[in-house]
Amino acid sequence: MRVGILTGGGDCPGLNAVIRAVVLTGSGSGHEFVGFLDGWRGVLDGRSVTLEPSQCEDLLARGGTILGTSRTNPFKEAGGGEGAAKMLDEMEVEAVVAIGGDDTLGVAHRLAEFDVACVGVPKTIDNDLSGTEVTFGFDTAVQIATEAIDRLHTTAESHHRIIVCEVMGRHAGWIATHAGIAGGAAEILVPERPFDVEALCARLERRRERGRLSSIVVVSEGAVPVAGPQAEAAELATASGTVDQFGHARLGGIGAWLAREIEERTGYECRETTLGHTQRGGTPTAFDRVLATRFGVEAAHALDEGTFDIMVALQGGQIVRIPLEVGVGTSKSLDLDLLDRVAGPFLG
Ligand code: F6P
Repeated sequence: MRVGILTGGGDCPGLNAVIRAVVLTGSGSGHEFVGFLDGWRGVLDGRSVTLEPSQCEDLLARGGTILGTSRTNPFKEAGGGEGAAKMLDEMEVEAVVAIGGDDTLGVAHRLAEFDVACVGVPKTIDNDLSGTEVTFGFDTAVQIATEAIDRLHTTAESHHRIIVCEVMGRHAGWIATHAGIAGGAAEILVPERPFDVEALCARLERRRERGRLSSIVVVSEGAVPVAGPQAEAAELATASGTVDQFGHARLGGIGAWLAREIEERTGYECRETTLGHTQRGGTPTAFDRVLATRFGVEAAHALDEGTFDIMVALQGGQIVRIPLEVGVGTSKSLDLDLLDRVAGPFLG
């Protein structure tokens, strides 16, 4: 079979490891591969490169994606779904392995209406896809954030400061909670639970009275204060006004806003660090390389068996295939039990 591979959405450590696994496993079964450039954009424009096994052998540890990526949504363009199907037909591409988050995989599912055969591979550092216990990229992002928090501790301690560390995660607090637990944060603020700045400051004051002169506050980029004047002020300070083709606003800025608020309200010296794209760049951890490889091998087997409109997923520690529709149906919010029962005893 002639198979197209594409990577869509934000890049993520482990994408190249999936490409390697799909191409090396699939070519062993006689499939030929082309890589579409820049996600679904490359399919619409017919831009692709040949992917020979020899080109993919050394990709395991490489961050980013050799194919490039974009947040293009074919269904936002007139006749886009039909156009993508027509292009694939003209290029004699019989199946597509789409590696992406809910947006990219949502497009893969909708293309079934146009008889496009897709196998999905879920990725996101945010870990917010419901069909799989974990996505590759998440472990790397948590590792990077944890290392950063470790470093922030020593400088915060030296200066008796509060440091607010803003992490990614979109509207899910997985990165914040895992990195906050692993890094011994005093506070973890997540989108799933709006926070009260006054109560937060009171906790930081009590902590200082107990002799803890420095604190690390981990805040997820999507965290918001409780409804009311605090939320309105934060919204004014952070709204970017930029929305992508899938309707997602660009997040960020809550950490800087919060650091100013804490300093003003408590009088403690406060700094802010936004980890941003450092969480997505560079080499994947061993865990993510293994998960990406397991996903890629399973995607290649799905091609062999002609099983389409599915995505591979991790469930109960096993790699399974689930309908794409199920995988992209709902997003996976943070398990608040993890925040309350596991992180809780160490906060404050
Ligand atoms: O979904 C992955 C992610 O890194 C989010 O955590 C973040 O909000 C977003 O992508 C950033 O996107 P961009 O790279 O377009 O700024």
